[in-house]
Amino acid sequence: MNAAGSGAVDIRRSVPEDFDSFYDCFAAICRERRYLAVVEPPSKEEARGFIDGARQRGMVQYVASADSRVVGWCDIVPHAWEGFRHSGRLGMGIAPEFRGKGIGRRLMDATIDGAREAGLTRVGLEVFSSNTNAIKLYERYGFEYEGRHRRGRIIDGRVEDVIMMGLLLDV
Ligand SMILES: CC(C)(COP(=O)(O)OP(=O)(O)OC[C@H]1O[C@@H](n2cnc3c(N)ncnc32)[C@H](O)[C@@H]1OP(=O)(O)O)[C@@H](O)C(=O)NCCC(=O)NCCS
Repeated sequence: MNAAGSGAVDIRRSVPEDFDSFYDCFAAICRERRYLAVVEPPSKEEARGFIDGARQRGMVQYVASADSRVVGWCDIVPHAWEGFRHSGRLGMGIAPEFRGKGIGRRLMDATIDGAREAGLTRVGLEVFSSNTNAIKLYERYGFEYEGRHRRGRIIDGRVEDVIMMGLLLDV
């Protein structure tokens, strides 16, 4: 039984069999139209192709799982090009009813440790300026401000900057 976090939530490395449930979680957060850059989720096939490719490049992905349902994820996808492979991009999301319960922190702990073990030395991310909860989480983990695209996104009447943040793992 797990209505909105009343039972145990496991944090574990994702496996290919998680894809369908991961996709449902990801697509629902896209449709919130607030937190992710993608607001119309890609087709399942497209998303599967991306994840398979990312996995081959050494993606570090952890999921939060409640009663076999993926209720959150955090991943760091290494860049593909020579010269950039020491560096990965972080993405994450938690299903609305599971937010604010420490799952984001648990996912970050696991995923950043995993990136370090995988030999990545830089993690970058972009976050919308209105997303103060995510920004607080990233600051808490030592991400530093690296730049800002002013008026980077205008959606549903909201004008937002896109903030770039980065974390070096070997300092
Ligand atoms: C941002 C997000 C990943 C955080 O995960 P979470 O499980 O809700 O966060 P946690 O409960 O682990 O809290 C971790 C930290 O985040 C910040 N935070 C999270 N929720 C917060 C809230 N409601 N108010 C203030 N700070 C909050 C705090 O710094 C908190 O640390 P603290 O509890 O020690 O103060 C989650 O809220 C989410 O999925 N949001 C929508 C998708 C998204 O924004 N993805 C990131 C796109 S860049």
